[in-house]
Amino acid sequence: MPQPNAVKCLVVDDEPRLRRVLVRLLEGEGFTCAEAGSGVEALEMLYHEQVPLVISDLRMPQMDGVGLLREIIAKWPDTAVIVVTAVAEVESAVACLQLGALDYVAKPFHLDEVRARVMQALDKRRLKMELEDYRHNLEQRVQEQARRIEELSLERLQALVHFLEEKDPYTRGHSVRVANYSTRIAREMGLPQSVVEVITLGAELHDIGKIGVSEQVLHKEGKLSEPEYRHIMEHPVIGARILAPLMRDVPAALAIVRSHHERLDGRGFPDGLAGDQIPLEVRVVTIADSFDAMTSVRPYRPALSVQKALQELDEGKDKQFHAPAVRAFLAAFPDPSALPVSTPEVQPLHLPAPSPDSARRSPRSD
Ligand SMILES: [Fe+2]
Repeated sequence: MPQPNAVKCLVVDDEPRLRRVLVRLLEGEGFTCAEAGSGVEALEMLYHEQVPLVISDLRMPQMDGVGLLREIIAKWPDTAVIVVTAVAEVESAVACLQLGALDYVAKPFHLDEVRARVMQALDKRRLKMELEDYRHNLEQRVQEQARRIEELSLERLQALVHFLEEKDPYTRGHSVRVANYSTRIAREMGLPQSVVEVITLGAELHDIGKIGVSEQVLHKEGKLSEPEYRHIMEHPVIGARILAPLMRDVPAALAIVRSHHERLDGRGFPDGLAGDQIPLEVRVVTIADSFDAMTSVRPYRPALSVQKALQELDEGKDKQFHAPAVRAFLAAFPDPSALPVSTPEVQPLHLPAPSPDSARRSPRSD
C-alpha cells in the first residue's frame, strides 16, 4: 500500500463544494491536497510542482477533464489521473481510461469507493514506474553486454594483427609503432582527445586486411609481379570489410583502414581519393605508416635511413602527404637520433564511447 501521508494530490473541479468533499476525504486519509478550479489552473500548478496523483472532474469550463488528461499524459506520464464522472458520462470515463487515466469514480461518491480507487491507482502507478525502471536498467545492461562483446571482438582482432606481424620479421611491431607515431602527430596537431583515440584505434588495425592476402605473396622476397601487387593492395578493402560490423559507430577508424594507401594527389588506392576527400584522421596515419615502412627492412629492399625517410616525407608534402601533419610529425619528433622509435608495448584497444553524433564528420584540417 502507498503511504498516503507522503503523497500529494491535486483535486480539480469547478464546483468548490465537490472539491472540498474530495479534499476532506483525502486529507482524512493522510494525503496533502492542492485544489484547482479548472484544467488551465491545474496545468499552471503542475508546471510549478509535479504531483503523483490528480483527481479531476470531466465537465469544466475552459479546459475540460479530457483536455487536462491529454496534457498530463503527454507532459507528466508518471502522474496518476483519476477522473470523476456523472453516471451519465460513463462512456466518457471509458474513453479517458483508453487515453491513459488509471481509473474513474462516479458521482455521487461513496467514500469507501473513492478511497479504494485512489489506493489502487497509486498501486498501479508504482508498479508502472517500477516496470519502467526495470526496463530501463535492462536496456542499459543489454547495452553494456553488447559493448563488452564488441570489446572482446576488438581484443581478438588486435591479437590477430600482432600475431600476423609476429610471423613476419619484416613487419614485426609495425602496427603498434604506426599507432604510436599517429597518436603523437595527432596530439601535436592539437586534435581533440576523442579524435586522437579514433586515430590510435584505426592506426593499430590499419593492416588487418593482410589476413586475406596469400602468405606466399606477403612474404615473397624480391619484386612483386603486377598481379601479386594488385593482390596485396586488396588489403585495405578486406580490412574495412572485416571491421565494418564492429565499427559501424566509428566511421573515421574504418576510413583509416580502407584509405591508408590513398594519396593527396589522387594517385593512391583503393578509391583514388584526393585532397579533402581523404579524412584528416587518414592523412595522419598515412604519414606514420609510410615513415615506419620506409625505416623498416623489407624483403625486397633495406631500410631507408631516418634522414632519407624524413626527406621523402618532406618532398611528398601536398602530393602524397598532408603538409600540416608532416610538420606535426617533425615537431613531435624533433630529434632524428631518437627515430625510428623502438616498438612500444601493446596496450589494449578500446572502442570510443558512442556519441549521439556517431556519424560525425572528419575534423577540419586547417
Ligand atoms: Fe597497408
